[in-house]
Amino acid sequence: MSKDQIEEIKSKLDIVSVVREYVPSLKKNGRNHFGLCPFHNERTPSFSVNEELGIFKCFGCGEGGDVISFIEKVEGLDFIKALEIAAKKAGVELRIERSGFSEKRNKERERLIEANHLAAEYYHYLLGKHEYGKEARKYAKSRGLRVKELKQFMIGFAPSGYENLKNFLKKKGYTEAELLSWGLLAEKSGHTYDKFRNRLMFPITNHIGEFVGFSGRILDKNSKAPKYLNSPETLVYKKSQIVFGLYQAKEAIRKNNAAILVEGNIDILSSHMVEVQNIVAPLGTALTQEQLKLIKRYSDNIIFAFDTDSAGEKALLRSHELAESLEMHAKVVDLNGYQDVDELIQKGGDWKKILSKAEPVVDHMMNRLKRRIDMTSAEGKDEYVDSIIALIATTESSVRQAHYLERLSVAVGVDVSELKTILNKYIQKSKKVDINETSIVETKEKVIKRSNSRADLLVAALLSHRERIRLFDLSLWSEILSEEQTKILEMAREKTVKELFVDLNQAEQERLKDIMLLPVDVIEDEGLFMQSIKLIADSVFKDFLRAEIRRIKFANLNEQEKGEILNKLVIRLQSLQ
Ligand code: UTP
Ligand code: MN
Repeated sequence: MSKDQIEEIKSKLDIVSVVREYVPSLKKNGRNHFGLCPFHNERTPSFSVNEELGIFKCFGCGEGGDVISFIEKVEGLDFIKALEIAAKKAGVELRIERSGFSEKRNKERERLIEANHLAAEYYHYLLGKHEYGKEARKYAKSRGLRVKELKQFMIGFAPSGYENLKNFLKKKGYTEAELLSWGLLAEKSGHTYDKFRNRLMFPITNHIGEFVGFSGRILDKNSKAPKYLNSPETLVYKKSQIVFGLYQAKEAIRKNNAAILVEGNIDILSSHMVEVQNIVAPLGTALTQEQLKLIKRYSDNIIFAFDTDSAGEKALLRSHELAESLEMHAKVVDLNGYQDVDELIQKGGDWKKILSKAEPVVDHMMNRLKRRIDMTSAEGKDEYVDSIIALIATTESSVRQAHYLERLSVAVGVDVSELKTILNKYIQKSKKVDINETSIVETKEKVIKRSNSRADLLVAALLSHRERIRLFDLSLWSEILSEEQTKILEMAREKTVKELFVDLNQAEQERLKDIMLLPVDVIEDEGLFMQSIKLIADSVFKDFLRAEIRRIKFANLNEQEKGEILNKLVIRLQSLQ
């Protein structure tokens, strides 16, 4: 498709009504519409839509873009798919001209998903109705599985013969070479045969429900083959990027504002049986950041329910670190001695009650280690402190760090200050950077960023009352407004925002988009308006002076020069305060 076509679609779509389908709380305030962000959970609206430029942004989680990227993100689609939906809504017929290579790839992708889908239906039919599925039906029953979940997840059975699926899919027009490369067939000395045999089949779908592969559990207890056999990685199945059960769980994850993470496929089916549907699994691999990011689209809260045997403390440490790095809140449940969630449910444990007792990872580990470690001995205390400090070190919030140091101090009877030293040593060792240096750089950047965004607010207020820009003497502000900000305000004297937008370069356009989405009240009274402008301006100027003071302090000047400049700056700052 051409750029013109994308523009045509965007211009025909009203971003406010598209967004409102997903954000019913959307309300007009001033120039923009505000509502509760669909990409993260919040109580007060920080999600802003600007009709004039056709853009949105959330000031809470940072998601932003145009109407197409909105559809992309909210529906979890790629750009092309989102564009197709947008075109439909806009009543535009999409002319897709793909390059030869990507067209071929796309065709293969579709064929592969289709073949997987057909295979899933085939296996599912055998499990449900066919003579071949008799033993498997017995097995499913003995595991306490219900028809409802078997249908919902399209669970199936791959019979023990060597050419069942092969013949079925060849009749449907697929070649042996294709089926081999997609992992549905295997090969030995030039002969292809069904890869999955005598297994309960779990179709793997991605988060939009496309069939990307299979995970098959062996039925024969005495077999030497691996318990689970999974599809190899293909064009559509990258195991680090797929979360089993997410497609069936995502609505429940949004609704409950939490995702439960288990290890096993069957755990998920059992959990659905007791009406706990916000549950997913990483398909036998260690949890990856990509998987966690996918989950985060639906909620910031994750509850780990790992098997008791394998719930290595190391795995928990890593999962905690991953969750913290994505600013997610992680909790852990205690399975009360049951081996996994499936066993717990099948043996009549109260899954919902256990879930309600989930504890933050650090609390959980503090309690759990106490049971295992002899806390009266010096060695025991050492081990305990080492393990907990490792968790505290990867905790992002300093408030929570302080909270846990305090508790750790009580638990082992060691001063908080001593524990802090241990913590700092640990952090330095693991990061191998000078903490002091980075913290200075960070604060400096933060100050500049903050003053820049305050100045944005000033520009936004002026743009929303364009006729009042002339009351504002730009030359007085050249020192603290960025070039982009000044340029935008100058142009706004002559042009509307929409008109001037096209005259800006890309960086300037991005700046203007951010500015236009800021929440700015409509103030009718001119006097009141100027008063509020002055308030914003003052704080921008204060920030500017503070940043200057900081810059001079670290600048390479002799002490006398420094002192003189600093004096002047401080006096100016004091006169404002
Ligand atoms: P488990 O061994 O805990 O199996 O593996 P399970 O899910 O509890 O199954 P049952 O209850 O014994 O029938 C947990 C998950 O790890 C993956 C599978 O996704 C499995 O569900 N796994 C396990 C493999 O990928 N390969 C294996 O050989 C074993
Ligand atoms: Mn199990």
